[in-house]
Amino acid sequence: MQKPITAIIVGAGHRALIYASYALEHPDELKILGVADPDPIRRKHAASIFGFGEDCCFESAEALAEKPQLADAVINGTMDSQHVATSIPLLRRGYHMLLEKPFAVNEEEMRLLLETAKETDRKVMICHVLRYAPFYADIKRRLLSGEIGDIINMQLTEHVSYHHLAVSYIRGKWGNEEACGAPMLLAKCCHDMDLIMWLKSGIAPRQVASFGSDFQFDPSKKPAGAGKRCLVDCSIEENCLYSAKKHYIDHPDRWSFYVWDCLENLENPTIEDKIQSLKTDNIHGRCVWDCNHTVVDHQSVMLNFEDGSTATLNMIGGASKAERNIHILGTKGEIKGVFDDSIYTVRKIDTPSEKGYTEETVDLGIGGDKSGMTGSHGGGDLLLVEDFVRVLRGQEPSISCTGIQDSMLGHLAVFRAEEARKTGSVRPL
Ligand SMILES: NC(=O)c1ccc[n+]([C@@H]2O[C@H](COP(=O)([O-])OP(=O)(O)OC[C@H]3O[C@@H](n4cnc5c(N)ncnc54)[C@H](O)[C@@H]3O)[C@@H](O)[C@H]2O)c1
Repeated sequence: MQKPITAIIVGAGHRALIYASYALEHPDELKILGVADPDPIRRKHAASIFGFGEDCCFESAEALAEKPQLADAVINGTMDSQHVATSIPLLRRGYHMLLEKPFAVNEEEMRLLLETAKETDRKVMICHVLRYAPFYADIKRRLLSGEIGDIINMQLTEHVSYHHLAVSYIRGKWGNEEACGAPMLLAKCCHDMDLIMWLKSGIAPRQVASFGSDFQFDPSKKPAGAGKRCLVDCSIEENCLYSAKKHYIDHPDRWSFYVWDCLENLENPTIEDKIQSLKTDNIHGRCVWDCNHTVVDHQSVMLNFEDGSTATLNMIGGASKAERNIHILGTKGEIKGVFDDSIYTVRKIDTPSEKGYTEETVDLGIGGDKSGMTGSHGGGDLLLVEDFVRVLRGQEPSISCTGIQDSMLGHLAVFRAEEARKTGSVRPL
């Protein structure tokens, strides 16, 4: 029997703890030995979950990298702009790595990380968890079987719900590009761009065009009577769709891991603590038109591939319901589905039949983008960790495997799309 892969959590935030939770269910496969995080509350929390002592707690990725190698791998769940800086010393120290997306926030960083991974011969898997969601993995298998022929065009849409948009991309950590280092397309849609590249099986895009803007939350759109904080000085709060009271007090569990992380020092924050926090220093208590929002709220990308096929990706933030749609048209048929319903349909050209095509609907019977500990991203989160363990054990990786080299095209397409959007030009890849 093989020994479990050992790992250290680097950045013990929301995401890294989800991946690390795999060790609790599968102690024979993965064992968490320690944590590196500047936040003492998070270090203590991780230690209590995984049962290691203070001697296995480090104040940062850099401090961990100064010590002799203590485990096979690290799970790097630091924030976007820290990924490369925290990863390089750890790769040099000898750790393999499960690294959150986006794995780099610009092209220069991306190439530096790629070079370091090659040079150190370490395995780096990127958390493009949607590749592992059974919905997309199934579609990939159908494409590989050749039943719909060669792909002519792919249409992907991502509708970001109004409450997700507000908590992450307006008030939250990804609302200001200068502060977080990632534009909306990178922070939210590097998954979708990665799916396009993966489904195209290595055929690269040669040109990218893109349009998008902050249609709804530019400060110039601030309604008369709106204040700076919803619970303090706003006269339109009662009728506002983005009221912090409606989002976070009336639904205290919705996105709680983002909204209430500033109360992590309290064991059981009361509703009064939460109201007080939204009234004072909680970033989620701010008016959505007054929080230094610099990213787009909708963006369209058009890709032209080297084989002459095309693809579009439309991200629209502020939808009533979150939904990812996909429609792939091939030379022999098509695949069309809704990730959040985990249902897709395969149609094939059938000349003898009355309708002219056959139709098969597949219901995978699982939800889509759940944010629970085990079911996130349609089940993709923990399937990714399972594959990571397999790869480190030298076993055959799954078809979803997200090595750093093959995750590159999607990131590059995002960087080019942003250049195209900002300059109003078509960019080569
Ligand atoms: N794969 C996905 O679908 C998905 C979904 C959401 C977020 N993410 C990505 O996951 C990443 C983490 O997001 P999160 O919400 O969990 O973040 P978070 O802010 O909750 O956690 C980041 C942690 O890193 C720690 N940290 C800061 N500097 C550090 C250092 N030098 N060394 C070690 N730790 C350090 C922070 O103290 C914090 O605890 C982000 O890059 C985000 O874009 C991915």
